[in-house]
Amino acid sequence: MNITINGTSRIVNAGPLTPLLHVLREELDVLSPKAGCQQGGCGTCTVLVNGEPRRSCLLPIAAVEGAEVRTVEGLASGGKLTPVQEAWIHHYAAQCGFCTSGFLMAATAYLEKGGSDDHAEIAAALGGHVCRCTGYVKIYDAVAAAARGESFDLATTAAGSRTTIRGVEL
Ligand code: FES
Ligand code: FES
Repeated sequence: MNITINGTSRIVNAGPLTPLLHVLREELDVLSPKAGCQQGGCGTCTVLVNGEPRRSCLLPIAAVEGAEVRTVEGLASGGKLTPVQEAWIHHYAAQCGFCTSGFLMAATAYLEKGGSDDHAEIAAALGGHVCRCTGYVKIYDAVAAAARGESFDLATTAAGSRTTIRGVEL
C-alpha cells in the first residue's frame, strides 16, 4: 500500500487495518504523533488528513490511501517555522511537549480555515486535546497570536527567558 506523508509517497508493508499511528512511528520513522491513550481520547496522535484533524490511533491505513497526511514534520519549510510554531515558542505553550504535536496540527487546521483569535472558538477547535501540564491558556494565547498574524523574534524570546541566580546567567 502507498500513503502520502507530508507530500511524499511512501510504501507501507503493514496490513490495511493497522492504525496509522503505528505505521507512522514504527515503520516510517515519523515520530511527532505520540501514542497517548490510543483510544481517541487525548488528541496527542492527531495528524491532518486532507486538512482535517484525525486521531491517527483510530485510523486504519486503508482509510488514508490516496489521501494527503500531514504531521508536524511537514510544517516548517526551508528551516522556517510556521507562524503558529513560532507563537508556541514565544508564548511558552509547551512544557513537557508530549501533547504539542497533536495541538499544533489541530491549531494548523483551525488557522488554515481562517480561525479567529477568540479564545472560546480556539478552545472549541482544540476540544478533546489533553495537556497534563495544564498549559491551556498559553496554548490558546499562541493560537490567537497566530490568528492575528503576529510574528516574533525568537532570539528576543530566548533572551527574555534567561534568569540570573547569584550572578550566574542561566
Ligand atoms: S493516542 Fe490517539 S487520541 Fe490519544
Ligand atoms: S506540555 Fe506536557 S502534556 Fe502538554
